[in-house]
Amino acid sequence: MESAKLFDRAKKVIPGGVNSPVRAFNYVGGTPVYMVSGTGSKVTTADGATLTDYCGSWGPLILGHSRPEVVEAIRAAALEGTSFGACTPREVTMAELICELVPSIEMVRLVNSGTEAVMTALRLARGYTGRSKILKFDGCYHGHTDSMLVSAGSGLLTGGISSSAGVSAGTSAETFVVPYNDLNAVAALFKSHGKDIAAIIVEPVVGNMGLVVPADGYLKGLRDIATKNGALLIFDEVITGFRLASTTYGNIIGVTPDLTCLGKIIGGGMPIGAVGGKGDIMRQLAPLGKVYQAGTLSGNPVAVAAGLVMLNILKKENPYAGMTEKCNRLADGLQAAAKTAGVSLCCSRFGGMFTPFFCTGPVNNLAEAKHADTKAHAAFFHGMLKAGVYLPPAQFEAAFVSAAHSDADIDDFIKSAQAALISQ
Ligand SMILES: Cc1ncc(COP(=O)(O)O)c(C=O)c1O
Repeated sequence: MESAKLFDRAKKVIPGGVNSPVRAFNYVGGTPVYMVSGTGSKVTTADGATLTDYCGSWGPLILGHSRPEVVEAIRAAALEGTSFGACTPREVTMAELICELVPSIEMVRLVNSGTEAVMTALRLARGYTGRSKILKFDGCYHGHTDSMLVSAGSGLLTGGISSSAGVSAGTSAETFVVPYNDLNAVAALFKSHGKDIAAIIVEPVVGNMGLVVPADGYLKGLRDIATKNGALLIFDEVITGFRLASTTYGNIIGVTPDLTCLGKIIGGGMPIGAVGGKGDIMRQLAPLGKVYQAGTLSGNPVAVAAGLVMLNILKKENPYAGMTEKCNRLADGLQAAAKTAGVSLCCSRFGGMFTPFFCTGPVNNLAEAKHADTKAHAAFFHGMLKAGVYLPPAQFEAAFVSAAHSDADIDDFIKSAQAALISQ
């Protein structure tokens, strides 16, 4: 197998053989599959297999792989120059488009990743409020900036790492953590420490403990508590931005955060991130204000070209209802297949996102997510892979239906799931 050979070579020169931990298949066992190309909903592997992809590069590929207009934009931009380290016209258009599509964003700064967007948002919140503490939620993942590697989700969760080595005790102590979907816990914390808290940061719909949906009124409750206590509210929409409509989830539900972090979709599959929000906060950033942030490749013209085309296609084609309908059919089919097979399964779904939790559910927070049987998940993952379906290789992650998935893809998924679950 070519993938196994590549992984053996990789392990000698790349820590763990991977450039991001969850890719290592440690949580499902076996050898990572090496991807060589992708078109629409399909990827081909170094072993010559064709798989239907529900990982979608962990979210950016909402239009599927190699959407021609996006590829053409990348090609054309690269021919003009891959980087200038100077101002370029398209970054202005991109910022204008984000501000148009997300009214709570009056100004936006482009960065290179979701992690950088969060890092910048936290520094801005501290600079603006003059306070030092941040409140995050158990199992939410906000990238790998030091202060967010406390009770983090995604790869840290599946690996059982509650925090990371290399993060100083002083940095960890700046982060408070309470359970998601529990407003009382937030109110209690603000009662004791409210004057020190610069910001609440939250994934408004959580992707990183598996898919967990906010309870009715939860996000509005966070907004009210933050406002009452002079803290900022940061929505980390690196996954949810432009995933559920051509805007942010905050805008969809009418809850206005002070700052929003974006990434993934806005780069059309190229590396990008963005932080945006109220003008008086954003104007604290250098060179206007005293909060420093910079980047050699920030606003990279190739990434911006890809993202601009992606956002304009999403705005024009509005594929969201179709993705939701397909995702609901997939989730219903999976749930029914589990029932027939006698397997405990709760398939969370929201828009085009889903997570099959191998437990009875419902899953409203990290404690409930942890009821999932990760061994059953691993068996399911491999059963599906054998049948030609690629899912995120870990239980506590969201999977994605893209605009490129067809009805036939969904039918295949359900048939494959029936077979995989029966043989578990
Ligand atoms: C909600 C959320 N925030 C931040 C990040 C970090 O983004 P990046 O991996 O681009 O640094 C991620 C990554 O998956 C994420 O899901």
